[in-house]
Amino acid sequence: MSFTIAITGKGGVGKTTLAGLLISRLIASGRRPVLAVDADPNSCLDHVLGVRMKQTIGGVREEARIIAGKGLSAGVSKQELLELKISESLVESSDFDFLAMGRPEGPGCYCYANNVLKSALEKIAHEYPWVVIDNEAGLENLSRRLAQKVDVLIMVADPSRRGLETLRRLFALAKEMDVQYGRLVLVVNRLRQDALPAELAAIRAETGAHDVLALPENAELADLAERGDKITALSPDNELVKRVDEFLNRIAG
Ligand SMILES: Nc1ncnc2c1ncn2[C@@H]1O[C@H](COP(=O)(O)OP(=O)(O)OP(=O)(O)O)[C@@H](O)[C@H]1O
Ligand SMILES: [Mg+2]
Repeated sequence: MSFTIAITGKGGVGKTTLAGLLISRLIASGRRPVLAVDADPNSCLDHVLGVRMKQTIGGVREEARIIAGKGLSAGVSKQELLELKISESLVESSDFDFLAMGRPEGPGCYCYANNVLKSALEKIAHEYPWVVIDNEAGLENLSRRLAQKVDVLIMVADPSRRGLETLRRLFALAKEMDVQYGRLVLVVNRLRQDALPAELAAIRAETGAHDVLALPENAELADLAERGDKITALSPDNELVKRVDEFLNRIAG
């Protein structure tokens, strides 16, 4: 059984950064191997982790469809071919594997293609004790791509009033779309002061969130991102690293 963490939030709030931090700190604390899933076609989780993506599952499915159209060798089913192609698209490193979902490509119903991606992810994910999924802004993607319940659903926001309001909207959307999760965690990122915004306590109560993670604005991270360095280059005593370590101890034992 895997422990799955999925990250959501509106555009540019720090989802991919948090995914990278969680993955690198899971590994650093011996919680590995990790499957890193990039479910955002426009994301750069591969850069943040310092790996090179080969092909997305969406692209692989299209390739398998074309091969199958030309005729399969005896004894190989379409599903087997797809699974083989998907395992080929996994980027393997010593501590984690990386999988990019991409977009469903090729003809046919979008839902069908999404279901193929969904079952492919499930098939692979259960082999890993830890799975971290970086999502596209919004929640549509999450409800379409994940049939199974996630253990921890993270909603990230910036500390502005409007930013915090998106947490309420995301929560309402998650209920509407029946996103299944074990625990909900609210993350306020890029805080410029020590105190959490007062409104957050009300939002926590309304959503029944299990935990709140406060992440400060961090100059070392900003410099690192500007240089395009991977997240593991952060110094071990960086405040973000410390807070993510404490958070993982709270939620993942
Ligand atoms: N705590 C922080 N301190 C300083 N910079 C940060 C912090 N968190 C994120 N950033 C920077 O903010 C930018 C956006 O972050 P990121 O790409 O993680 O957001 P995102 O939610 O994944 O965006 P998108 O919706 O486009 O996928 C990046 O340049 C990142 O380095
Ligand atoms: Mg992102």
